[in-house]
Amino acid sequence: MSKPKVTVIGSINMDMVTQTDVVPEQGETVMGTGFQTVFGGKGANQAVACARLGADVKMIGRVGDDAFGELLKGGLLAEGVSVDCVEPVTHCSSGVATILLSDRDNRIIVTPGANHRVDEAYVSSYEDVIASSDIVLVQLEIPLKTVVYTVDLCAKHQIPVILNPAPAQELPPETYEKSTYITPNESEQEQLFSKVSAALSEKLIVTQGANGVRWFENGQTEYVAGHQLVPVDTTGAGDTFNGALAVAIGNKQPLREAISFANAAAAVSVQSFGAQGGMPTTEEVWTFLANK
Ligand code: RIB
Repeated sequence: MSKPKVTVIGSINMDMVTQTDVVPEQGETVMGTGFQTVFGGKGANQAVACARLGADVKMIGRVGDDAFGELLKGGLLAEGVSVDCVEPVTHCSSGVATILLSDRDNRIIVTPGANHRVDEAYVSSYEDVIASSDIVLVQLEIPLKTVVYTVDLCAKHQIPVILNPAPAQELPPETYEKSTYITPNESEQEQLFSKVSAALSEKLIVTQGANGVRWFENGQTEYVAGHQLVPVDTTGAGDTFNGALAVAIGNKQPLREAISFANAAAAVSVQSFGAQGGMPTTEEVWTFLANK
């Protein structure tokens, strides 16, 4: 089987992760229990998830001309992701995410830096890459105008596009209508899609963490159950789900199978530290499912 060609248009961040037993109140200082710098960014994470699962992946994004920029590109390259469309921005910092890991959950502040320079002109210069993809993935850590433009380009070239509306921000209704699938988590679904038309609801695939995934097909609510395990770090679970979903759809798997596979990949991912740390290979997903 040939590898699906996945293009990811999105953010590339350095994640600065502090582990702490106590989350400080305003004006308070507390002592942390650990600190690590790891590769992240919703776009880059989804690209790595796809690459580990065997796809041919191109990343369209930007880094700064600081020390993180080259490291971030090198990290993607080491995973087999093409960085030909990752250009550095001069006099600009790379995207960073400050992450507090506490009680097996996270709190994240993203400072976009160079990610905000992924503008329409930049994406337009890679229209041929988008047009020759089997599937495109886009999230909301780049300018919203760029997301709208990217979905328009995919519609123009009839390329399926998965819109991961994270972090939650409103987009024009036409952008939702032109997306092939939209993958909010529960809180994003509540914030953005509490009242939707029947046609739009058929595009929604709602991830619910340990409670599985629900979606709507032929007017019916469909569901796959979550996997019960004690997570080490849930950062990047949604990105793993989106990457795996794109690969499975790119491999022409039926929707239910694709969602079950992505659900299992996300469950594997939360068993290791870091957004990309636990992202599985295809064999690891099958082994996990076989041992259930
Ligand atoms: O989805 C997880 C990601 O969100 C982190 O890697 C962080 O960079 C933020 O973008």
